[in-house]
Amino acid sequence: MPRPTPTIDALFPDWVLTVTSTIDATPDDLLPQELLSVARAVRKRQCEFATGRVRARALLARLGFPDAAVPVGPDRSPVWPEGVVGSISHTSDLCVVAVARQSQTGSLGIDVEPEGPLDDETLSGICTARELEGLGRLSEAGRGLAARRLFSAKESVFKCQYPVTGAMPDFRDVEIEFDRASDAFEAISVTAAGACLPPICGRWLNRDAWVFTSAMLR
Ligand SMILES: CC(C)(COP(=O)(O)OP(=O)(O)OC[C@H]1O[C@@H](n2cnc3c(N)ncnc32)[C@H](O)[C@@H]1OP(=O)(O)O)[C@@H](O)C(=O)NCCC(=O)NCCS
Repeated sequence: MPRPTPTIDALFPDWVLTVTSTIDATPDDLLPQELLSVARAVRKRQCEFATGRVRARALLARLGFPDAAVPVGPDRSPVWPEGVVGSISHTSDLCVVAVARQSQTGSLGIDVEPEGPLDDETLSGICTARELEGLGRLSEAGRGLAARRLFSAKESVFKCQYPVTGAMPDFRDVEIEFDRASDAFEAISVTAAGACLPPICGRWLNRDAWVFTSAMLR
């Protein structure tokens, strides 16, 4: 029996299809054009990648693209069928995928992170001074979750912006402003390098032992 995984529909409007799954696929499940990019990877990476592809293809079939493959572009981003936007993320034990018709939104991003604190070195690499200050005001218990949420939100924002800008903003080019009263956030560019960022908003969820975030063009 596959282990049940959380439902993450609340991350997106209902026209975005999402799925979560354990890492349960193998390279044998890949289509030839998908296998190419991980043929020489270690088995663990092949299984993570394959799970993302198998789940993505199942969602694409529901959108009306039953025969679509999802190969990897030269920049390592997934290549979705014409007219589709999507995003993939995995931890060592969970995979998440979101897809939608491009007529509904120009781009989207998704990310999953294991719950739990980040070390100080990672934190200072991903946070602006203002964000570090905000985290410093939290209790130790709240800080770990808030830091993971921030990290995950920036990864979702990156995945959402990349297909439309082709830019590689650094973590500290962007600040995330969480709405205290809801599960929503906005991405704000805070440096010249971040100025490429289109208006992006997102949501977050904490389910079981994971933090999930989404990002969409506003
Ligand atoms: C690309 C990146 C976001 C991936 O995040 P990660 O935590 O390493 O891994 P995740 O499991 O969450 O995501 C991996 C998936 O991202 C997707 N991905 C990779 N490059 C991508 C890109 N340029 N654009 C969109 N999606 C991309 C792929 O689907 C990949 O999975 P796959 O190789 O199995 O297909 C991250 O490695 C990165 O390079 N970040 C750049 C800096 C950044 O995030 N800045 C934030 C400020 S906006």
